[in-house]
Amino acid sequence: MKAVTFDSFGSPDVLRITDLPDPVPGPGEVVVAVCAATINPTDLMMLGGQQARLMTHLSPPFIAGMEFSGHVLRAGPRVALVPGQAVIGVVNPRRPQGGAQAQRICVPAVSVAPVAASGDLAAAATVPMNALTGMLALEFLALPPGSSLLVTGGAGQLGNLVIQLAQEAGLKVLANAAEQDRALLLELGAVTVLPRDAGLEPALRQICPQGVDGLVDGALIGAQVSHLVRDGGRAVSLRSSHPIADARLTSGYVSVVAAMEDQARIARIADLLQGGVLSPRVAPQGVFPFTQAAEAFRMAAQGGFRGRVILTFDNDQEGRNHG
Ligand SMILES: NC(=O)c1ccc[n+]([C@@H]2O[C@H](COP(=O)([O-])OP(=O)(O)OC[C@H]3O[C@@H](n4cnc5c(N)ncnc54)[C@H](OP(=O)(O)O)[C@@H]3O)[C@@H](O)[C@H]2O)c1
Repeated sequence: MKAVTFDSFGSPDVLRITDLPDPVPGPGEVVVAVCAATINPTDLMMLGGQQARLMTHLSPPFIAGMEFSGHVLRAGPRVALVPGQAVIGVVNPRRPQGGAQAQRICVPAVSVAPVAASGDLAAAATVPMNALTGMLALEFLALPPGSSLLVTGGAGQLGNLVIQLAQEAGLKVLANAAEQDRALLLELGAVTVLPRDAGLEPALRQICPQGVDGLVDGALIGAQVSHLVRDGGRAVSLRSSHPIADARLTSGYVSVVAAMEDQARIARIADLLQGGVLSPRVAPQGVFPFTQAAEAFRMAAQGGFRGRVILTFDNDQEGRNHG
C-alpha cells in the first residue's frame, strides 16, 4: 500500500509517497481501506516539527492524519465488523504505525464506527476527531441545559462541531467569528455571533451581563477572554501551550488522544452524523488525491478557507468489493 510520509520535519516539500507493507489486523483490530483522511492543524504541526518532542520514540517514515473514512477491508479475530462496512475512525498518528494518511490503516476496531454507505463517505472524514474533542470539552464543562457557552473560533472545524453538539445538548451558544461567517454559525445553531474584535465584550455582556457559564477556546484566545466567564464558571483549553489560568474558574485542557479507543463516543458521533446533527465540512477546492499531498498541505497551511482539506485515496472501490 502507499502512504503519505515524511522522514524529516519541514515544509510540505518533504512529503513523499511511499510503498509500505499491507497491514495485517491482529485480534480486535480492523484494516480500513481509506476513502479520505483530513489535514488538521495538528498534522501541520507534526510535519513542521512542533511536535518533535512527542515523537522521540518513533522512527521515520512518519505518517500524519488523525481521522479517516473508508471501508473495512479485513477484520481480525474478535471483531464484529464485516469487510465492506463503511466506517469513520480516529487514530493517534504519533504511534509506530503512523496515522490516517495512507491507503490502508490498521486500528483497534473500537476506534471506528459504522456509517451508512449511502452518504458522502469522503466528507464524513471531516467529523470524527474534532467531534470527539468537542464532546470531551463539553463533558468537562458539564453545563446543564439552558446554560450559556462561549465558543471562540466558531468558524473553525472544531468550533463548528462544538456549536452543533452544544445546541443538541440544549446550551445557549455564543460564538465569535468574522462577519462573513455569521450566517454559517447561526445555521449551525449559535444563538448569537459575536465580533472577533474589541466589540466582543459589549456584545456578550448585553446577552450575559454576569458572563457566560462556560468557554470552549477553539481560537486559543482563552487568556484574553476568560474574564467573560462568570465567577465559578468553567473553561476548556484545547492546547496545552494555551492554558486558561483564571483563578475564578474551573479550567482544564482536554486531549483527544486520550479517547482514541472510546468506542461509545465514536459510535455516538457516527449516529449524530447520520442523524444530521453533525455536518461534515470540506473546504471549497479542498479535495486532493493523496498523490498531491504536498499541495494539499500547502493549502491547509495557508488557511483563509472554511472546512477541512482532505486527501482522497483510490482504493475505495477495493474496500467495498470485499463486502
Ligand atoms: N486538544 C485536542 O485534542 C485538540 C483536538 C482538535 C483540535 N485542537 C485544537 O483546537 C484548535 C481549533 O481547531 P480547528 O481545527 O477548529 O482549527 P482551525 O480550523 O484553524 O480553526 C480556528 C478558527 O479560529 C478562528 N480564529 C482565529 N483567531 C480568532 C479570534 N481572535 N477570534 C475568533 N476566531 C478566531 C480562525 O479564523 P481564521 O481562519 O480567519 O484565522 C479559524 O476559523 C486548534 O488549535 C487545534 O490544534 C485540539
